Order: sequence, then C-alpha cells, then structure tokens
Amino acid sequence: MAARKLGVVMNGVTGRMGYRQHLVRSVLAIREQGGVALSDGTRVQLDPLLVGRNATKLREIAERHDLPRWTTDLDAALTDADYPVYFDAQSTQVREKSLIKAMDAGRHVYAEKPSAESLTAALELARHARRTGVKNGVVHDKLYLPGLVKLKRLVDSGFFGRVLSVRGEFGYWVFEGDWQPAQRPSWNYRAQDGGGIALDMFPHWNYLLENLFGGVRAVTARVVTHIPQRWDEQGLRYEATADDAAYAIFELDDGVIAQINSSWAVRVNRDELVEFQVDGTEGSAVAGLHRCRAQHRTVTPKPVWNPDLAETGRFRDQWQEVPDNAPLDNGFKAQWEQFVRHVVEDAPNPYDLLSGARGVQLAEAGLRSSREGRRVELTELTA
Ligand SMILES: NC(=O)c1ccc[n+]([C@@H]2O[C@H](COP(=O)([O-])OP(=O)(O)OC[C@H]3O[C@@H](n4cnc5c(N)ncnc54)[C@H](O)[C@@H]3O)[C@@H](O)[C@H]2O)c1
Repeated sequence: MAARKLGVVMNGVTGRMGYRQHLVRSVLAIREQGGVALSDGTRVQLDPLLVGRNATKLREIAERHDLPRWTTDLDAALTDADYPVYFDAQSTQVREKSLIKAMDAGRHVYAEKPSAESLTAALELARHARRTGVKNGVVHDKLYLPGLVKLKRLVDSGFFGRVLSVRGEFGYWVFEGDWQPAQRPSWNYRAQDGGGIALDMFPHWNYLLENLFGGVRAVTARVVTHIPQRWDEQGLRYEATADDAAYAIFELDDGVIAQINSSWAVRVNRDELVEFQVDGTEGSAVAGLHRCRAQHRTVTPKPVWNPDLAETGRFRDQWQEVPDNAPLDNGFKAQWEQFVRHVVEDAPNPYDLLSGARGVQLAEAGLRSSREGRRVELTELTA
C-alpha cells in the first residue's frame, strides 16, 4: 500500500542544524526508509518544502537532494494546504515570529531549541499553541542518544536505588577563529544575536534532568566569558559578548543534586564530548553520547586513601558496559518520527512548547543567579 503524504515546511535548512541534522539525517533519511510507520501498520511519507532567505543556497540544496519544492516566501508556504506542518531551525532570535505566524495559519509546529530567547516569549508560544489548538513540539534530541537511552533504562529498572547526585561535563575547545576557523557559528558568541552557552545548553539540561531524575526546583550558577574576542566567518575580529562557560548546581525533586559544567573553553580529557555520572545508593553509572557504563554496589571496590602509593589498577576498568540490546537510531530522526506520529495519529508527545519554555526558564534563572550572585528558585509554569 502506498504511504500517505505529510507536507512539512522546513525553515532554516541552510543552517548547520537545519541542513545536517533535520533535513539530511532526519527528513531525507525517513524518506529513504519509506516513511514513518504508524500503529495500524500503514506509513506516512514526508514531503519537505524548503524555505529560507537565500534563493541560491536553497536551489543548490534542493537540486543536490532532488527536492522539487523550495521558496523564499514563508507567507506563501504557510498558505499551501498540502503542507500542514511547519518546522523551524532558524537562529533563535527570529524563531518566535515565524512560529506565531505558522500557528496563526493553523500549522502544527516543530522547532529547534531554545524555543525563544526569553521566558516571556517561550511561554507565549506555548500559550499560543493552546489557543490555536495546533500540535507542537520542541527538539529534545539528547534524550534519544544511545548513551542516555541506556541510562534511562537503568533509572527505570531501579538500578540506582535512591539517586543522590548527577555530575555532568559538557564541552570542548571552540577555536577563536584567528589562525583556524571556529567550528561553531559566530552568533553563538554574541549576546545581542541570541548567543550564549547558558541559553544554548540549559534547555538541554532541563529536559534531560526532568525526564531522567526529576524537575529542577532551584539553580545556582556562575556564567562567564572566558574568551573575550573571537574572529567571525569573514575573518573579522569581534567582541564575544555572550557567556562561553556556565558552572551550575541544579537542585531537583527529592533532594537530587545535579552539577553540570558547560564550556566552549575546555580541552577534552573524557571519553565523549558530554558525560554524566550518576551516583545512587545501589549503584552508579557514567553515560555519554554513545556509551553507558555501570557499577553496582555489590561490585564496588573499596579504595583506601594513601598518597604514598601509586594506584596499580585503573578505576575505569572496574565498570561494566551497558549493552545496546536494541538498534538505537539517530536521535534527531527518532524524535521526528515521534512528532509525525503525534500529528497524524495523536500519539503522545511530552516534548512540547511548554516543555521548551521550562528549558528557557532554566537558562534565564541560571543567568539571573550568576548576575545577582544568588540561588534562584523556579516556579511551575502553565500554558
Ligand atoms: N539541538 C541541538 O543540539 C542544537 C545544536 C546547535 C544549535 N541548535 C539550535 O538550532 C538553531 C540554529 O542553529 P545553527 O547552529 O544551525 O545556526 P546557523 O547559523 O548554522 O543557522 C541559522 C539558520 O537561520 C537562518 N537565519 C539566521 N538569521 C536569520 C534571519 N534574520 N531571518 C531568517 N533566517 C535567519 C540562517 O539563514 C540559517 O539557515 C539555533 O536556535 C540553535 O540554538 C540546536
């Protein structure tokens, strides 16, 4: 039986995330596999309509992937009844206006995070979705990473007993751009253009903590700009006005303490670019993008502090690999499939604009904590 079609207006596909993660690795990968499988055994095939400001770039992408539809006219794209879904991976600052426009046109909306630059705007987006009745989702990709899927499995099995603490290390050296090009867009380092590591990463930490260990109730953070000058895509020097490192303590439900360091000014001495260590009364685990290793209390060695003796064993060898046990797909694509099922068969999707707003709330609270030098409590949000 032929798969039915679902048209998706994709805005921001000339960007890093919009092109690589969403168009190529998600929507085109879904097309190649013959669509998204639904619960009744039928399939939905995706039909992308590319939107952006630069006709030359759009045409080039469309031709490279043999896609017939592209336009620089967002308003026109939003009136085309064959495209009931709007996706947004534009830079953060311009997202809000486009999402409101899409919802007013009755489109279901799916968007990159952060959903907006401020809590007021992010909450307004969630409320507008409720008012217009459209389905809505925000990218929560890290939850679908193989390492974190395995960590979630340990949580669900009760492996940890009572979770005590979570320690996360995220980051790597982002080149300044003078003698080697930077590997991230320059707007990420300008506050006036929507940049900053807290606004970028705290939304991720919020949904990860909330879905694995419990909601964040308070934050104490120190947010800094370690590298004050950088060089942009044209090789021009600019002032880095946004934070490039954030050192934070998050207090979760049930007394769980999570500490997460986020930095674009750190050199990697870890197995993966992000790693979380979880310690519980019954066991501990370390999870990264791909791997997850665990140590149960029954096999926990008993180190004895003796600075006079060099360690003979390697602590890292005392952990056990958690097996995949199932194929674990690319997280961006997995969430696209979940969102498509949400749109066409009302499958559950907890990762909506209200969840996105909680992420922005945490970023804003972290920035305030740093600015005012104090612990900031979070209030519960409702759409
Ligand atoms: N989920 C994740 O892990 C993750 C990772 C990185 C970035 N992001 C988010 O994805 C979004 C895009 O980030 P990126 O790294 O791809 O950035 P990018 O600079 O590579 O791409 C930005 C896109 O927005 C478009 N754009 C920029 N300014 C615009 C304007 N004024 N009007 C219309 N379009 C405009 C650009 O043409 C481009 O298509 C950001 O919101 C960012 O926070 C998410």
